[in-house]
Amino acid sequence: MIEVEISRARTFVTDQEFDSSYEKAKQAFRQVQQKDGEGAEWLGWRTLLSDPNDAILEQLDGLASAIRDDADVFIVCGIGGSYLGARAVIEALTSFFGQEGPEVLYAGHHMSGKYLAELIDYLGTPNSDGEAKSVYLNVISKSGTTLETALSFRMLRNWMADQYDELNDRIICTTSAEGGALNKLIEEHGYQKFVIPDDVGGRFSVLTPVGLLPIAVAGIDIRSLFYGAVSKYESLEKNAEQLLAYAAVKHALYEQGKAIDIFTTFEPELHGLCGWLQQLLGESEGKDHKGMFPAKATFSTDLHSLGQFIQEGTRNIMETFLCVESRNSRLKVEAQKPNHDGLNYLEGRSFHDINSRAFEGTISAHHEGGVPCIAVTMEKLNAQHLGAFIYLYELVTAVYCYCLGVNPFNQPGVEFYKKEMYQLLGKQ
Ligand code: PA5
Repeated sequence: MIEVEISRARTFVTDQEFDSSYEKAKQAFRQVQQKDGEGAEWLGWRTLLSDPNDAILEQLDGLASAIRDDADVFIVCGIGGSYLGARAVIEALTSFFGQEGPEVLYAGHHMSGKYLAELIDYLGTPNSDGEAKSVYLNVISKSGTTLETALSFRMLRNWMADQYDELNDRIICTTSAEGGALNKLIEEHGYQKFVIPDDVGGRFSVLTPVGLLPIAVAGIDIRSLFYGAVSKYESLEKNAEQLLAYAAVKHALYEQGKAIDIFTTFEPELHGLCGWLQQLLGESEGKDHKGMFPAKATFSTDLHSLGQFIQEGTRNIMETFLCVESRNSRLKVEAQKPNHDGLNYLEGRSFHDINSRAFEGTISAHHEGGVPCIAVTMEKLNAQHLGAFIYLYELVTAVYCYCLGVNPFNQPGVEFYKKEMYQLLGKQ
C-alpha cells in the first residue's frame, strides 16, 4: 500500500483553489484514459500494464540469471530515462556495501574522460579470485544516437573486443525496433537486442527492458516489480481520488507561485528514487515557461545544508517526503556507562524509530515554517511496492502536466544544448 498524505499542503490552499484544481485534474485524467490529450501517442507505459507480456519478463529473467552466473561486472550504459529508473530501483533494493552477484556500474551518463578511463582501468584489474574480470555491457538508448551513451559504448566495446573472443553474449543493446546508429551496430555485429516500444518515452520506460534487465541482473524480482505496477494501475483505474487530490494540491500550489518541489527522504537508499522523480517531473513539466523545479535532498544529511533554507528562506517551495513505514534494520542503541556522550536517553530505541522521529519533527517544523508538505509512504520497501510507486508517479506526472497545459511526453528543450554542442564539436 502507498499512502499519500496531503493535509500539511492542503492547509495552504483555499477550498476554492483546491476545487478548481481538482476539476482540472479530473479532466486531465480523462484525457489520459481517453488518449485525447497532447502526446497521446506516448501512452504505451499504461498499455504495457493493462496488457502484460509475461513472455518478455521470462526472457529477461532467463538472460539475467545467465549473466548473474557468469559476470563480475555488469555495466549499464545510458543517460536520463535510459538509466535513472534502473539505478533508483537497484539502489533502493540492494545493500549499500558488498552486493551479492555482479557489481552493477554505470556509464554513458556523462562525458568525463577521467571516469571512463578509470572505469576501463578498473575493468582490467583481476577479480577477487585473481582472474580477469568477466564483464557484460547493456547499452540502452532509444534514439541510438545520444552522444554521451554512444561515445562510452564505443570505448567500452572496443576494450571488450580486446579482452574477449566473442562479444555477442556479453553485449546487450536495448533500443528502438528500427533506426538509429545502435541498430546498425546490432545488424553488423549480431549483438543481443531488446526493443523499447515506440509509444514509451525514456523517462516512462523503467518497466520495459530498459529498466527491467539491469534490475533483474541485480537480483531483484522483476515480476513483483512489474505486477506491483499492474495492481496500482488496476486500482487507480477504479478509484483515482487520492491521486487526483495529490495532483490538484500540487497544481493549486503551483498556481499560487510555488516554484520548487523538493523531493526528500530520510532513507539514503531512496536517493536514486528522488533522482528518477526529478527527471520524470523535470523533463515532463518544465516547458512553455511553466512548472515547478523538482529538487532532491536526503535527510538528515541535507538538513545540515539545505535545512536552513527550507525552514526560513524564500517561501516559494513545497516539499514531498518519500517515506517507508516498515523497519529496514534491527539496529538499536545500547546503554553505556559512563554516559559521557549523554546518549543513554535513547537506550533501547531502534534507529528506525529515531529516524522516524527525525522525519516527524522535520515535517512539522517545515510546515510551521510555511512550507506545504506532502508525505508519500510505502508500507514496505520491496519490489512490489516500488512497482506501485513507479506507476503512481508516472500517472501523477501525466495528470499534473495536463493540468498545467503542457505535453508531458516530449522534451524539445533538451535539443538546444545538443545543437550547440554538436556545432562546437564540428558534427556534420
Ligand atoms: O526521458 C527521455 O526521453 C530522455 O531522458 C531520454 O531517456 C534520454 O535523453 C536518453 O535518450 P536515448 O535513450 O535516446 O539515448
